[in-house]
Amino acid sequence: MRALVAGAAGFLGSHLCDRLRRDGVTVLGLDNFCTGSRQNIIHLEHDRDFEFIEHDITQPIDASAAGQVDVIFNLACPAAPLAYQRDPLFTLETNYGGVRNLLELAREKEATILQASTSEVYGNPTLHPQVEDYWGNVNCFGVRSCYDEGKRVAETLMLEYGRRYGIPIKVVRIFNTYGPRMDPEDGRIVATFIVQALQGRPITIFGDGSQTRSFCYVDDLVDGLVRMARSEPSFTGPVNLGNPAEFTVLEAARLIKKMTGSSSPTINDVLPQDDPRQRKPDISLAEAKLGWHPRVSFEQGVARTIEYFRAVTGSRPDPCRRLSAANGCADPDSPRRAARAAVMR
Ligand SMILES: NC(=O)c1ccc[n+]([C@@H]2O[C@H](COP(=O)([O-])OP(=O)(O)OC[C@H]3O[C@@H](n4cnc5c(N)ncnc54)[C@H](O)[C@@H]3O)[C@@H](O)[C@H]2O)c1
Repeated sequence: MRALVAGAAGFLGSHLCDRLRRDGVTVLGLDNFCTGSRQNIIHLEHDRDFEFIEHDITQPIDASAAGQVDVIFNLACPAAPLAYQRDPLFTLETNYGGVRNLLELAREKEATILQASTSEVYGNPTLHPQVEDYWGNVNCFGVRSCYDEGKRVAETLMLEYGRRYGIPIKVVRIFNTYGPRMDPEDGRIVATFIVQALQGRPITIFGDGSQTRSFCYVDDLVDGLVRMARSEPSFTGPVNLGNPAEFTVLEAARLIKKMTGSSSPTINDVLPQDDPRQRKPDISLAEAKLGWHPRVSFEQGVARTIEYFRAVTGSRPDPCRRLSAANGCADPDSPRRAARAAVMR
């Protein structure tokens, strides 16, 4: 069994590579490092059954260079709002041209292909919790639409390639996932709060913090991806993967503050445009079809994530700087940082 993991140097992709290697699967990782980091896969450098190519999926993939491919996991896409809003056209292209290139490869290799879709396809949901046959409430003209609509068209592409060419397709809709190797600079809640708390900086809450999120620990999520890839061929999804335990953003901040023993104050900032009010997956389908449900509680997962960021903080005073350096943007005045700051404003 040989798997191609697109987005291998990212947060989820790197954990997926680790899990596949533990399962004895040979892995070909692929990434363009636009949001990922070499640091995330450096421990696989001397693993003879892990190969890596630097490649942007918006460019066609050389099928002969890829070699044997039995299954493709497509996780290649900037996932944090700050990251995907930095270059919306690139985000759209990654989700259309990029997904199409991977589908063409799957067709040529007769491989199963799994697409990492997202709870964002539900937009700002009017149905709670979200079930897979809910069509969503997406603003197709807003700042998040390059990602939300990009992921929606990627699902459609998967479906149409499956229909036309009989490719075994799998679509998972991932809800907020957290854990070690997240980029604490990209604005995603758990890593941002933990690093702010560890550094004694104010914990920034957008709006009044009453909006809810459901947080899934990375190991649980990766297990869901693997189960989905191995599921019966007729089961295409889409299937929700996430932890249904629901927290307000304020509750998450308070828990993280307590668990880090931090004295950071919490401050409020303006709620970003189209920020969803509620997020909670209905995972009945994943339970029935994949025998999957999350096992790691939020407290357990946060404890493991704090441990990781403490270790990173221990090696250098500022984990943000260290991880940025790994991403190739160590200079605080780099264009990439400037772009991030511009989006944040
Ligand atoms: N983490 C979550 O909570 C979450 C939630 C919903 C969906 N997802 C989806 O899961 C996938 C992985 O998310 P993540 O959290 O690991 O994000 P991430 O940004 O850490 O990882 C994405 C990886 O894809 C790479 N990439 C982006 N565009 C590429 C391109 N055109 N060609 C090649 N590589 C490219 C990046 O460099 C990065 O390594 C994404 O598709 C995302 O939409 C994640």
